Amino acid sequence: MKSILGIGNALTDVLAILPDGELLRKYHLPLGSMQHVDKETGDEIWAALKEIGVQYVPGGSAANTITCTSIFGMPSGFIGKIGPDELGQLFKSSMEQYGVRTTMLTGTKGSGRCMVFITGANAERTFASYMGAALEMGPDDLKPEYFEGYDYFHIEGYLVQNQDLIAKAVQMAKAAGCIISIDMASYNVVQSNDAFLHNLVEKYVDIVFANETESKAFTKCDDPVASLREIARMCDVAVVKVGKDGSWVKGGDEEHYIPAWPANPVDGTGAGDTYAAGFLYAHSLGLPLKACGEIGSIIAARVVEVVGTKIDIPRWREAKLEIRELIDKLNG
Ligand SMILES: Nc1ncnc2c1ncn2[C@@H]1O[C@H](COP(=O)(O)OP(=O)(O)OP(=O)(O)O)[C@@H](O)[C@H]1O
Ligand SMILES: [Mg+2]
Repeated sequence: MKSILGIGNALTDVLAILPDGELLRKYHLPLGSMQHVDKETGDEIWAALKEIGVQYVPGGSAANTITCTSIFGMPSGFIGKIGPDELGQLFKSSMEQYGVRTTMLTGTKGSGRCMVFITGANAERTFASYMGAALEMGPDDLKPEYFEGYDYFHIEGYLVQNQDLIAKAVQMAKAAGCIISIDMASYNVVQSNDAFLHNLVEKYVDIVFANETESKAFTKCDDPVASLREIARMCDVAVVKVGKDGSWVKGGDEEHYIPAWPANPVDGTGAGDTYAAGFLYAHSLGLPLKACGEIGSIIAARVVEVVGTKIDIPRWREAKLEIRELIDKLNG
């Protein structure tokens, strides 16, 4: 089976279910918002949440995708930076429990974490992130041998803020013969790195994943299909995801609309990361483009049914069976 290496922010989600909105008010966090906090505030919030009781789940976009490709059975590796602390070790060992081969670099700051406040009857989520050591990862950390033996290299768009790191990473990945994919992550990342990202996609990237707002920011086209066609002009495969309305995939002369798979959605977290994992797994098997989009959709439909990014075992089993049937049908 083909292998995949991912690079991204090594972030641990620190989840706490709060009885009321008091802590949100105390730290000036608007309900449902996502804010960056400094170390002091981050530590203070963490201590306050610990008193209530917290759950630790390794997260970060590329890390989620790579965990998922590992569960699919692809030999999977991850490069990220943690701090010299317990939280970092927890991130590393949690990834390894999923079979991921980690290259964890160690920085000087505390390990990155995303504190998630879960409040109210609808389990509304409010985020306070401390990036810490994750942001210390730089081009000098990378070594060609990290890339050797991998067939795919997947980048999370959040890292594009560190242009020198990504420039070096894609050069090493190309030298190692990897197919390169990127998930654009967020429209503001796309907006603030426009020229760099265009150059990156045109020169290095083979597969682009973007949602509706990211594809619009990247191409300046209002319509997702127009965006799809524009992106597909710059690389081998373009994917534009439109949430519950499904996705569009295009490569060369081939273009497909893929409906979303039926689901009982409770929490959209991880849909994009999981879709990418299913798509890349199928691509690595040499399946047709349409099947890649379908397998991405099958697994993404399972993650929206659970709270958080980790699909439970029954849902994994069900999805793998469905994917097996799809592949068997293709093989006649
Ligand atoms: N409610 C849903 N029901 C079924 N499938 C869904 C649902 N929401 C999303 N999906 C699937 O997940 C895919 C990716 O979702 P989405 O378009 O939200 O990506 P994204 O914005 O990158 O997600 P994320 O917020 O995780 O980064 C969709 O193309 C679809 O196949
Ligand atoms: Mg996304």
